[in-house]
Amino acid sequence: MIYTERDRHFKRYTVTSALPYANGPVHIGHLAGVYVPADIYARYLRAQGEEVLFIGGSDEHGVPITIKARKEGCAPQDIVDRYHKIIKDSFAELGISFDIYSRTSSKEHHETAAAYFKKLYDEGKFVEKVSMQYFDEEAGCFLADRYITGTCPHCGNEHAYGDQCEACGTSLNATDLINPKSALSGSKPVLKETKHWFLPLDKDEPWLRQWILDNHKSDWKVNVYGQCKSWIDAGLQPRAVTRDLDWGVKVPLDEAQGKVLYVWFDAPIGYISFTKQLKGDDWEKWWKSDDTKLVHFIGKDNIVFHCIIFPSMLHADGSYILPANVPANEFLNLEGDKISTSRNWAVWLHEYLKDFPGKQDVLRYTLCSNAPETKDNDFTWKDFQLKNNSELVAILGNFVNRTLVLTHKFYDGKVPARGTLTETEQEVVKELATFPERIGRSIENHRFREALSEMMNLARLGNKHLTDTEPWKLIKTDPARTASVMNLSLQICANLAILCAPFLPFTADKMHRIMNLPAMGWQHAGSANLLTEGHTIEKPELLFEQIDDSAIQAQIDRLLQTKRQNELEAWRPADVKPVAAFDDFGKIDIRVATVLECDKVPKADKLLRFLLDDGSGTPRTIVSGIAKFYPNPGELVGRQVCFIANFAPRKLKGVESQGMILSAEDKDGRLVLITPGQAVADGCSVG
Ligand code: MF3
Ligand code: ZN
Repeated sequence: MIYTERDRHFKRYTVTSALPYANGPVHIGHLAGVYVPADIYARYLRAQGEEVLFIGGSDEHGVPITIKARKEGCAPQDIVDRYHKIIKDSFAELGISFDIYSRTSSKEHHETAAAYFKKLYDEGKFVEKVSMQYFDEEAGCFLADRYITGTCPHCGNEHAYGDQCEACGTSLNATDLINPKSALSGSKPVLKETKHWFLPLDKDEPWLRQWILDNHKSDWKVNVYGQCKSWIDAGLQPRAVTRDLDWGVKVPLDEAQGKVLYVWFDAPIGYISFTKQLKGDDWEKWWKSDDTKLVHFIGKDNIVFHCIIFPSMLHADGSYILPANVPANEFLNLEGDKISTSRNWAVWLHEYLKDFPGKQDVLRYTLCSNAPETKDNDFTWKDFQLKNNSELVAILGNFVNRTLVLTHKFYDGKVPARGTLTETEQEVVKELATFPERIGRSIENHRFREALSEMMNLARLGNKHLTDTEPWKLIKTDPARTASVMNLSLQICANLAILCAPFLPFTADKMHRIMNLPAMGWQHAGSANLLTEGHTIEKPELLFEQIDDSAIQAQIDRLLQTKRQNELEAWRPADVKPVAAFDDFGKIDIRVATVLECDKVPKADKLLRFLLDDGSGTPRTIVSGIAKFYPNPGELVGRQVCFIANFAPRKLKGVESQGMILSAEDKDGRLVLITPGQAVADGCSVG
């Protein structure tokens, strides 16, 4: 039973999830934004008995992959082979229930994508344009924007890329760069003519405007609709669908030697080619039948491609359906910072699975309950722990466990008979009946957080029922009533096993196993008669366990270490101070001295007291704030240091300091004493 009017007439669902680039593993941002909601949707529809095709796969083309391969001295194919496997395996382990997880470097995909282009070409759907592009004469090839570096015309950063300056964030054209340089050979690229094929999006504007802005104003998410509107209102421009590169799907034209399809042209065709791989001759109904609902799950950076460019490609062919909805999410941050692959600021799925074995559902739960559905959101490890300990353990796990344990204690694991229910319990039965529709409607409307919290409300209802009736006390005075109470609790558990399955499939399997439940569909849920009297329940097992502080601290420590490492890598020498005259320098009297004594200043953590032989015959005292970096000050005795001799004396923690000892500040803030490279006379001057 599909609860959304508009959806009732669909016979089947083609559900796609953005194909992740195979140049790195997937992280929690990908999961919360795309794969967890898409999987909940697909699992739910299957439980509703709907025909569903859930498609995933790796996006294996694009310039970043070739850049990574060059950096590592291997072939692009090696890179995508490595990450395709990591991604595919980790998705499977998390229970993302793709019907197929394929890859765009496959032969079938190349054929389908090339044929798609060829048909549009033959029908005159592209416009051809000759333009000037940077060419590397030494390497003998055109340069992708990312392969050109130079000086940013806006901020002067000398390491800007042809598409963007990472120092000031401005997006650039390669021809904007001052002193362009090829990243391939280091030579100065020259401009050369090249021909490309463009999708004339400008001509699509009228029907796009009507289709999205008029027809989908109320059923597409506000963020998605808003982005589409601003793109369309700004005026759509023709978009090149070919590139001068050699990694990708070859353009199937004789005159297009050395050219491939633009990655954003070939990748979405992957959804179609993977359908063909899985369904063979039966593929077309998933893409060309009006009673199929096509839904794309993506992150917000993919909106224009899935709402405007891919639909224009489908429309240009003319035989395809268009997406009925594109439920794009916003971004998930990590501990207050943007997730970043290059800065290693992420929680990687394959690492999580190693660090928290058997806890797939905990991650699925946390990411869904915190999904960035309407705004960017933040993942923190503390929150992860809290959601596990005080929701999964304390609400869902606790209810199911109490019910199953009492069933074994009182009835030896057999479902007791139910007699008459009190009025309150009849209310519970009535309320129970409303959950499948409440949860289902939220899922159908892509409100997954709301759906999940409704599911948890059923566990809360179960807990309240137990707390109100107190069967552990009641058993002593009224065994018949207790049996009714426990029967109802068990019925709620069985319902939870069905209703939690889209979100927590591993937990649902475990509950089915413990309760000896047959596979049931969504339509069975809502009933208070799922378990018959005498039905056997196996020995209870805990569904969830506490996650303690040490496991969480280990993750936080790892992130802190990453942060420190990033800061070190980002370190640059400070800007040079304004010009100083030689006379200014001459005023400062710097000399060498030997340390006679060195010890901590009492009641001052930071300060060391030095007694120096400065060659004058009278030892000099200087206090220096470097105690943290020299835990054994005695070891400094005998060492030569440099100091400023003509600063006015001042008192520090009761000690008069007669000058200043020089030290260098290292990248990480550590202070290091400056010592002459070889022994010199005490008192000699530095200049
Ligand atoms: N690889 C793209 C990204 O990660 C998504 C591609 S989706 C597809 O942003 F439709 F093109 F396949
Ligand atoms: Zn800049």
